[in-house]
Amino acid sequence: MKTPGKLAVLGSINADHILNLNTFPRPGETVIGKHYQIAFGGKGANQAVAAGRSGADIAFIACVGEDDIGQRIREQLNKDNIDVSPVEVIAGDSTGVALIFVNAEGENSIAIHSGANAALTPAIVIKHQKTIAEAGALLMQLESPLDSVLAAAKIAHQHQTKVILNPAPATPLSDELLALVDMITPNETEAEILTGVHIDSDEDAARAAAVLHDKGIHSVLITLGSRGVWLSEQGDGQRIAGFKVDAVDTIAAGDTFNGALITALLDEQPMAQAVRFAHAAAAISVTRSGAQPSVPWRHETDSFLQQQG
Ligand code: RIB
Repeated sequence: MKTPGKLAVLGSINADHILNLNTFPRPGETVIGKHYQIAFGGKGANQAVAAGRSGADIAFIACVGEDDIGQRIREQLNKDNIDVSPVEVIAGDSTGVALIFVNAEGENSIAIHSGANAALTPAIVIKHQKTIAEAGALLMQLESPLDSVLAAAKIAHQHQTKVILNPAPATPLSDELLALVDMITPNETEAEILTGVHIDSDEDAARAAAVLHDKGIHSVLITLGSRGVWLSEQGDGQRIAGFKVDAVDTIAAGDTFNGALITALLDEQPMAQAVRFAHAAAAISVTRSGAQPSVPWRHETDSFLQQQG
């Protein structure tokens, strides 16, 4: 049976190995880091955690390896209010890994070993099609195999489940997939890869949004870093500024934005208010280090917003 307020997230789970250093190493250079930590991450899991901690009724379709860290991540996701019954343990595989450098400015550079995330096949998507069909919305990213993202979007479309795509990491996508998407949330780089429009201004963002509307997408939100987000609904566009905070690192800021945004929309908040809620959650996350350790709970986002007046 359809539960309109319910969210399904399909995506990746990674163990993040994070090294803080002054400057990124250049090719051939060795640099000594300042601080090292292993934290739970993966774009799919981070977005699921942001939704779970924001109060969503959420189930997560994903894969972990047959290893200790996969088991521990699954247990933590469960504590974050997420139904992890569709998280598969892939025999003989290892949980995904992300190697992350964070420089003194809080910028990051990430390389990934997909591990068990690559085993999230269309067959696994079909196994969990009831989770997608019963949800009001399906949120996905691109750290899972593209044919599985397409399979999930088709199932969602057949069952009137809204498809929200955060097209990260950046990759070209087929018109077939984009035509199934109801809402897309690229950053400037991802938007340029999908549209060919280089974004330096609000006018550029409006032109990129128009290209995505032409592909059949109703709502386009282009995240613009410290300048906020360009929101375009059927061509009616506006920029919504974010909040200024002192950044420790920006890992999972975009993921937090996405998970919080969808939760607020499923709560039936108007779009501009939902974007403000998502900006607040993302602003809190950049004041803390790591991916999932940085994601705020609902009460923290609500009190941040109250302090803004
Ligand atoms: O978006 C941040 C995430 O990207 C990290 O947690 C890392 O795992 C990579 O997937």
